[in-house]
Amino acid sequence: MCGDVSEHREQAIGTTGEARRNRGCHVAIIMDGNGRWAQGRGCPRQVGHMAGAGAVRRTVEAAPGLGITTLTLYAFSADNWQRPRPEVDGLMELFESYLRSEYDRCVEHRVRLSVIGRRDRLSAGLRDAIEMAESRTRGGTRLHLRIAIDYSARDAVVAAATSLRRTVPLSREVFAAALARAVNAPPGTPDVDLLIRTGGERRLSDFLLWESAYAELVFTDRPWPDFNAEDLESAVREFAGRERRFGGLGPSPDDADVDRLVQHDAHCSITEGMTES
Ligand code: FPP
Repeated sequence: MCGDVSEHREQAIGTTGEARRNRGCHVAIIMDGNGRWAQGRGCPRQVGHMAGAGAVRRTVEAAPGLGITTLTLYAFSADNWQRPRPEVDGLMELFESYLRSEYDRCVEHRVRLSVIGRRDRLSAGLRDAIEMAESRTRGGTRLHLRIAIDYSARDAVVAAATSLRRTVPLSREVFAAALARAVNAPPGTPDVDLLIRTGGERRLSDFLLWESAYAELVFTDRPWPDFNAEDLESAVREFAGRERRFGGLGPSPDDADVDRLVQHDAHCSITEGMTES
């Protein structure tokens, strides 16, 4: 099982292979397919988003048992403002009611909740709900749940680069910290290990582009409202079966025993997490 989030919080993005092996698993999910799920049932798209909130609850509950210590969910991109006003308003109301109704469950299950993205275009009520949920769940160490709202990876890169324009020389660690500040994220969040996209599309849609440099990608046709613990486990199993080389070479035959141990660790002890849950 991966250790608690607090043990890994200080590790910067873009660190060495050793640091990568010793921290918990970061899974990011592009939750797609809500609208089609609803329309296929003859319902308004908002019904799909509401069902999507149920899938968020199921996923958050299942994540720690699979060895996941950071879970980042893409709820609303900066480009989603282009959607019709009633859909945008419905989503914003859903986010606010989720944050107001879920924070005590997060406290109970030791989940730390953060929201990443711009806040200046959100309503005062949603901003207040975000601040309240973040401050009340700050002590959570079992899972760091990050919800991306009004998020754009490219805008974040531009904001970070602008904030560092006078900083030379620049390192990956310093840039990663500026990137976190640009989206109001707590510092020290590890790189994405596994990026899942539901709903049948196969693209990244401006999500965590820097942080996913070495992420393993898993795409599933399952629409987000139907996504469940078994789907998460299946994605994690696929991830655990992949060999991650981070640009290096595969294991040499001479080092077979050592490498088996390292690889086991590199997969974030994810299979142990499954048997424990
Ligand atoms: C993409 O599906 C989904 C969204 C833009 C919204 C995601 C929101 C939720 C899952 C609601 C619950 C979230 C929280 C954090 C409480 P789409 O609408 O683009 O689907 P489509 O491709 O089928 O049209």
